[in-house]
Amino acid sequence: MKSDKYKINFFPPPTDCYDFVKRDRITAPPVWCSVDLRDGNQALVTPMELDEKIEFFRLLVSLGFKEIEVGFPAASETEYAFMRRLIDGGLIPDDVTVQVLTQCREHIIDKTLKSLDGVKNAIVHFYNSTSKPQREQVFKADKAKIIGIAVEAAEMIKRRAPMYRTEYSPESFTGTEPEFALEVCDAVADVIRPTPDNKLIINLPVTVETSMPHVYAAQVEYMKKNLKRADSVILSSHPHNDRGTGVADAEMAMLAGAERVEGTLFGNGERTGNVDIVTLALNMLSQGVDPGLELSDLNNVISAYERLTGMKVPPRSPYAGSLVFTAFSGSHQDAIAKGTEHRRKNPDAKWDVPYLPIDPADVGRSYDGDVIRINSQSGKGGIAYVLERKFGFVVPKAMREDIGYLVKSVSDKKHKELKPDEVESIFEREYVNIAKPLELGAFTFDRSGDEILLSLRLKNDGRDAVFIGKGNGQFNAAASALKNAFSLDFETVLYSEHALEAGSGSRAAAYVGLKAGGRTFFAAGVDPDIMTASIKALIGAVDKILKNV
Ligand code: KIV
Ligand code: ZN
Repeated sequence: MKSDKYKINFFPPPTDCYDFVKRDRITAPPVWCSVDLRDGNQALVTPMELDEKIEFFRLLVSLGFKEIEVGFPAASETEYAFMRRLIDGGLIPDDVTVQVLTQCREHIIDKTLKSLDGVKNAIVHFYNSTSKPQREQVFKADKAKIIGIAVEAAEMIKRRAPMYRTEYSPESFTGTEPEFALEVCDAVADVIRPTPDNKLIINLPVTVETSMPHVYAAQVEYMKKNLKRADSVILSSHPHNDRGTGVADAEMAMLAGAERVEGTLFGNGERTGNVDIVTLALNMLSQGVDPGLELSDLNNVISAYERLTGMKVPPRSPYAGSLVFTAFSGSHQDAIAKGTEHRRKNPDAKWDVPYLPIDPADVGRSYDGDVIRINSQSGKGGIAYVLERKFGFVVPKAMREDIGYLVKSVSDKKHKELKPDEVESIFEREYVNIAKPLELGAFTFDRSGDEILLSLRLKNDGRDAVFIGKGNGQFNAAASALKNAFSLDFETVLYSEHALEAGSGSRAAAYVGLKAGGRTFFAAGVDPDIMTASIKALIGAVDKILKNV
């Protein structure tokens, strides 16, 4: 590929600004500002209609956003009407501030301010592009002219709408020399004259991602350290995701001093999108910081988002994708099954289950069906996990490998994932209450001294016969009856049982492994009576031996 045609399109700060690397975590959430209804909406193939925007706005409010950029009211009738509907319909909660975007042009500013009549809390967000390529190629304007545009807009807004909060964005900040971005922002702040009680938001957009995240963070740190009125400024970060590192941009910007983040749900936005606020928030949660957003029913958020935007959340999207809490691989399944069991025994310990950065339950995902799914890569642990979680079969360890191979080979042959019901039906078909060629009839136990005597009626390929066995317990008596009946030589290497369901009408499950001729044959029995379940399991294993001799 021809690479020498590409220019390095970013400007590191003139002094070293790498204090942010000394910090390794975010300790408090930023002020979140959703730009879904503006930046996100403007990037949709079919932008949302008014009612859809209202529904999306309500969704954002329900998630806990306190600052919401609702649009560009001067840009279209729908945007203007939406703003009016929010205000006139009393749809903006008192603790929510709506933000409107405007270019630095007088008639646009005026129309924007008009759209806000009667609003309780608003942020007027004005911007102009400051980047070198845009100055040179688009505006053909020198630096003084660019500063002039921003300052003039600041003056208009300060004069005409002193009651609103203000935000200024040097658009294409990442393509702007940091010294120049500083000059513009200082000039704007000189007009707005913010105070520590009434701060100006300076938003530093990664309008196009052209550098690695640490370069952006250094630029943010440079602004934080050098802005004349830093104590009266809220530094805000607004990353896009062209290089796929929008989340890293926002996180490193926070380490570098940004206190506010503008982004969208699931990263919808121009080109590769805005930074994904869901990922940022849940990254924080995974490190023990409450992000201050309500994401505990993520499936609901995803379905509203997909319906209203026409976008899809990809299956591998962090935290939200349908596959992100799923393990197919055997070793992962085994570790998760053991980790969740460890957690069940230590419910108050901090979360550190292998392969699961957060508890799926915290975002409304269930273990059943989500976490462990079965295909040809799966392991015995995962299959046992599904049988136990979904169907109550606590398959003993000794038997898991046998079942695991069988289930995996079915998936391999079908070349597809097996749903839990399919796993269970393979288990039922191949192991439970096998009754061919032998089938259990009536049986009675008697005691003679220390010995248990058993009289066992069996159907063998349809013909009835009664067999006698004895042993030091009921199970051993049954095993001896079968050995005698068929002159078999086997050793019982597994016998275990448990109740399947609690309460009346409960059933028992029993598992038996018999070693014969160098192989072990496994079977299970299910019956309301525990001894009947055990004898059924035993007969099932003998059936397998008979089929193999
Ligand atoms: O990405 C961007 O630069 C913007 C500005 C308008 C803030 O969306
Ligand atoms: Zn943007």
